Amino acid sequence: MFSTTVLPAIIFLTLTLLYPSNGQLNATFYSNTCPNVLSIVKNAVQQALQSDSRVGASLLRLHFHDCIVNGCDASILLDQGGNITQSEKDAAPNSNSIRGLDVIDNIKSSLESSCSGVVSCADIVALAAESSVSLSGGPSWNVLLGRRDSLTANQAGANNLIPSPFESLAQITTKFSNVGLDTTDLVALSGAHTFGRARCQLFSQRLFNFSGSGSPDPTLNSTYLATLQQNCPQNGNGSTLNNFDPSTPDTFDNNYFSNLLINMGLLQTDQELLSTNGSSTISIVNNFANNQTAFFNQFAQSMINMGNISPLTGNQGEIRIDCKKVNGS
Ligand code: HEM
Ligand SMILES: *[C@@H]1O[C@H](CO)[C@@H](O)[C@H](O)[C@H]1NC(C)=O
Ligand SMILES: *[C@@H]1O[C@H](CO)[C@@H](O)[C@H](O)[C@H]1NC(C)=O
Ligand SMILES: *[C@@H]1O[C@H](CO)[C@@H](O)[C@H](O)[C@H]1NC(C)=O
Ligand SMILES: *[C@@H]1O[C@H](CO)[C@@H](O)[C@H](O)[C@H]1NC(C)=O
Ligand SMILES: *[C@@H]1O[C@H](CO)[C@@H](O)[C@H](O)[C@H]1NC(C)=O
Ligand SMILES: *[C@@H]1O[C@H](CO)[C@@H](O)[C@H](O)[C@H]1NC(C)=O
Ligand SMILES: *[C@@H]1O[C@H](CO)[C@@H](O)[C@H](O)[C@H]1NC(C)=O
Repeated sequence: MFSTTVLPAIIFLTLTLLYPSNGQLNATFYSNTCPNVLSIVKNAVQQALQSDSRVGASLLRLHFHDCIVNGCDASILLDQGGNITQSEKDAAPNSNSIRGLDVIDNIKSSLESSCSGVVSCADIVALAAESSVSLSGGPSWNVLLGRRDSLTANQAGANNLIPSPFESLAQITTKFSNVGLDTTDLVALSGAHTFGRARCQLFSQRLFNFSGSGSPDPTLNSTYLATLQQNCPQNGNGSTLNNFDPSTPDTFDNNYFSNLLINMGLLQTDQELLSTNGSSTISIVNNFANNQTAFFNQFAQSMINMGNISPLTGNQGEIRIDCKKVNGS
């Protein structure tokens, strides 16, 4: 005889096994339908890095900016046109800033040749982010797959949800927690600023007259300040590029955190992780600065957490043929 607690449990388990839960990604999603997807993506990213040492950083950032707006659904890749009246590409945080779109398009063409209509653009972006990190010296992880592509873009969302480098730590923390990422995820994922570049206009408010004080940001190292003032003079070109990490600009390592310890965070929001008195982020920064393994393990886990933000699955959305356009448009 089944007890009243055992019987429902058996029915539940049977239903779960018969109908695999929708909305769950897994690492083997393409193992029958596109078995070489991982090597195709990795080879393309490796190739791209040979002619553009920055592109790994750009591809990682693309995944973040995709996921934080309506989930990881490749909405960021849609060009304006047809039903897409306001693209995410034209939102302030992305315009003249996101890069690597040509690499995504190349990967998509290769995949359409080998496994037509199978691999989503959202999964390509997630895989390219992992390849970018691991090929740049960082950790590798098993990317969970099975995302589908959006039919819409959300420009207002991109303007409101992507963190700005002028916000307080409290504001950034709220933006992350709204998509299910906690303080540990925030600190680990911020470690992405260990490679790549930022334009002067994203941190020049710190260099001469911070918050109307008449002086530079007091949390900025004075030696580093002099270098930055030289590269980004007042009334200079705000599009001039600056490395996030002066010592190993294209390597994924834990220098981001050791730089914070000597007040060499580039963005205001970078240094805030350490300089916000009483914040729970401080001990996490110290741990990652002193233990690269701890950072790498947490970064991999936090990338999986970020990659799980509201994916479209099952028969939601579509598999785009061209990552820039909704099918049939
Ligand atoms: C925590 C809040 C964050 C803020 C305020 C922020 C802000 C910025 C800004 C202002 C830039 C420079 C953009 C430009 O010059 O046009 C940048 C670049 C970058 N961000 Fe973030 N970011 C944040 C989190 C993240 C996360 C979570 C990732 C990835 C996991 C990431 C990855 C990158 C990378 C790799 C670059 C360099 C891109 C390149 O060189 O093309 N950022 N970020
Ligand atoms: C991966 O997910 C797909 C779609 O939900 C499912 O068909 C497949 O059985 C899953 N694979 C594993 C190993 O769970
Ligand atoms: C700094 O900015 C404030 C407010 O914008 C302004 O009143 C002040 O004159 C500036 N100081 C200097 C030294 O430029
Ligand atoms: C500023 O720099 C960018 C990128 O280096 C360049 O494309 C642009 O023409 C420059 N603008 C001015 C006004 O010099
Ligand atoms: C500023 O940076 C230099 C390295 O460039 C470092 O030796 C020094 O300790 C830093 N100063 C502070 C106050 O963090
Ligand atoms: C944080 O604390 C330090 C010393 O403990 C102090 O010098 C600094 O002004 C404080 N910063 C803020 C933003 O309150
Ligand atoms: C560094 O972090 C790893 C992973 O969390 C841990 O196993 C190891 O004991 C830590 N090493 C030190 C020296 O604390
Ligand atoms: C554009 O939007 C209209 C109205 O919602 C819809 O009927 C049509 O299918 C959409 N076209 C494409 C290509 O998605």
